[in-house]
Amino acid sequence: SGKKKKVKIVCCGLDNSGKTTIINSLKAKKAQVADVTPTVGFSVEEFEKENLLFSVFDMSGQGKFRNLWESFYDDINAVVFVIDAADRVRMTVAKNELDLLLEKEKKNIPILFFANKQDIQGSLSAQECSDVMGLGEIKDRSFNIVGTNALKNTGIDVGVKWLSGELN
Ligand code: GTP
Ligand code: MG
Repeated sequence: SGKKKKVKIVCCGLDNSGKTTIINSLKAKKAQVADVTPTVGFSVEEFEKENLLFSVFDMSGQGKFRNLWESFYDDINAVVFVIDAADRVRMTVAKNELDLLLEKEKKNIPILFFANKQDIQGSLSAQECSDVMGLGEIKDRSFNIVGTNALKNTGIDVGVKWLSGELN
């Protein structure tokens, strides 16, 4: 009971990776939208989980909007980075965006990676995504990667639980 601690998160990752779908599933049932559409610019979403009050900047992953991501780095407690584990072709694009993020985010806040779309045949496992994205090179902050299926809502809670532990 009592006042819940507020935490601010930015949710990044390429367009179509599943950011909005994941965030939608974390909201209370009555606050969820039936149809998720591509994000324009960004939107601010709030929900309670693990005794924390989350305020999430749900960023558009479209190329023309990715330059907005960095404008939030000063104001946040953690990053959630969503990878489309089935999109092998654009994995290097995702890695480039991650490398930029790691360079520009100066406070060394924790990063939770979701290797999303584990339901799709041929998708890369969380470990394989970690290898392709070079997560082993990250030495300056805590991070974790969890495989998810946002349509069936599997794995997301495991990741959020880890993140909450980092933020509490
Ligand atoms: P932008 O807002 O454009 O950056 O995209 P986004 O990352 O927010 O992706 P969004 O949540 O809009 O999802 C894109 C598409 O992927 C939608 O059709 C989702 O239903 C679908 N999707 C999301 N998660 C999964 C998943 O785990 N498995 C499958 N098969 N499809 C998914
Ligand atoms: Mg979106």
